[in-house]
Amino acid sequence: MEYKKKRNVKNKNIKMIIFDYNKDKKKDFLMEYNSSEFLIETEVPSSEVIISRTDLNGNITFVNEIFTTISGYTEEEMIGKPHNILRHPDMPKVVFEEMWETLRKTQRWEGIVKNKRKDDGFYWVNAMILGVFKDGELVEYKSVRLPINDKQKAESQKRFDKLRKETNDTTRTIIYK
Ligand SMILES: Cc1cc2nc3c(=O)[nH]c(=O)nc-3n(C[C@H](O)[C@H](O)[C@H](O)COP(=O)(O)O)c2cc1C
Repeated sequence: MEYKKKRNVKNKNIKMIIFDYNKDKKKDFLMEYNSSEFLIETEVPSSEVIISRTDLNGNITFVNEIFTTISGYTEEEMIGKPHNILRHPDMPKVVFEEMWETLRKTQRWEGIVKNKRKDDGFYWVNAMILGVFKDGELVEYKSVRLPINDKQKAESQKRFDKLRKETNDTTRTIIYK
């Protein structure tokens, strides 16, 4: 069973899709949670760019308006909080370990991330993180995120599921229709 829903958030048309994980009964589902809200995707409109800035420890210092719309949090709820409030349980820990290692070395990282909304739904982005320099000194990080297509989402979900398995992280399998 697959549903497609649309809802209006601040006059913006955001497509919501509910996926049926249990379609493939042969798979073993070892779920850390079973809230149906985890099935609801918010699609980032192709015309939008999600922007945030963090201090050097990953605490949020700035968010743009579309970020609040897509994540479901208000600006006040996000400023000062660690960026991991958006961490989706499908994201392997090793992805972020590698992200921080790369950021410390090169002040630059790019990759696909699945994020969790305040309402436990999710959204996919391609994130580019860059160091912000003042008088030659690294002071912050900024992140600019763009939407990805369905093929990239399906491939990334598979890659993340595999990575979590290989690293004994939480296990869950999702099948995109
Ligand atoms: C600029 C910047 C943006 C980030 N954006 C996200 C994000 O959108 N989602 C996310 O889960 N982690 C993001 N992170 C990584 C988090 O800081 C954190 O490492 C990650 O959520 C994993 O949580 P953990 O380190 O507590 O395990 C970002 C980090 C930086 C520096």
